[in-house]
Amino acid sequence: MDTSVTPFSTVIRTASHEQHTEAETSTFMSDLLGGRLGVDAYTRYTEQLWFVYRALEDAAPVLADDPVAGPFIQPELMRTEALERDLTHLHGGEGWRETLAPLPATAAYAERVAECARTWPAGYVAHHYTRYLGDLSGGQIIRDKAEKTWGFSRKGDGVRFYVFEEISNPAAFKRGYRELLDALAVDDLEKQRVIDECKRAFALNTGVFRALGEEFPLSA
Ligand code: HEM
Repeated sequence: MDTSVTPFSTVIRTASHEQHTEAETSTFMSDLLGGRLGVDAYTRYTEQLWFVYRALEDAAPVLADDPVAGPFIQPELMRTEALERDLTHLHGGEGWRETLAPLPATAAYAERVAECARTWPAGYVAHHYTRYLGDLSGGQIIRDKAEKTWGFSRKGDGVRFYVFEEISNPAAFKRGYRELLDALAVDDLEKQRVIDECKRAFALNTGVFRALGEEFPLSA
């Protein structure tokens, strides 16, 4: 695709389409959303998200003034607090904070996000896009399934991660987000690197799913 004429938001979506399908149809995701796994698997998955979003969001204050990544840092997207409420609900108390450890695949993912945040703001944007635009899209399907499968109250504790309280119109928000992508203040070569990093972000997610699939095999 000619990145000089096609809007960057279209280029990045098209370029990651195949990996999106792979993530969406991974064994762990299919089993989880197919209602074949217990709430322990959902809890373990939510724990992994907490490590990833802390890496994304711990960097936010520093990147807020960056010319490339700064426009993407928007308080209404922040998920750490919602994840912490979900985890407290899922664990029945605050004790999880002392004991929680990431899977190796999650640690690798969070470390790559942190590295981009420290050294390469455009690479950070690739990670930002891969998570937040996904959460605003397919995340709503996951919430619905989770509520039905494990009995969480609608948009309540357990699924707050998927509820963007401060975004009343997700479709409009996503349009605005795509405009930010289209206006990304980097040259074409750097845009190509961002696309490569987006593919890496998807691969890191798939790696976490693979590890979770091994921890929660259906036929165990
Ligand atoms: C079973 C799991 C998933 C489902 C059902 C799902 C579903 C969807 C759907 C329906 C859309 C399109 C929304 C629209 O066009 O407005 C979407 C977009 C997206 N998803 Fe997913 N998704 C899943 C997993 C993931 C994962 C694991 C990631 C990456 C971590 C991801 C990242 C994205 C991104 C970045 C977009 C935005 C694409 C764009 O318009 O630029 N999704 N997803």
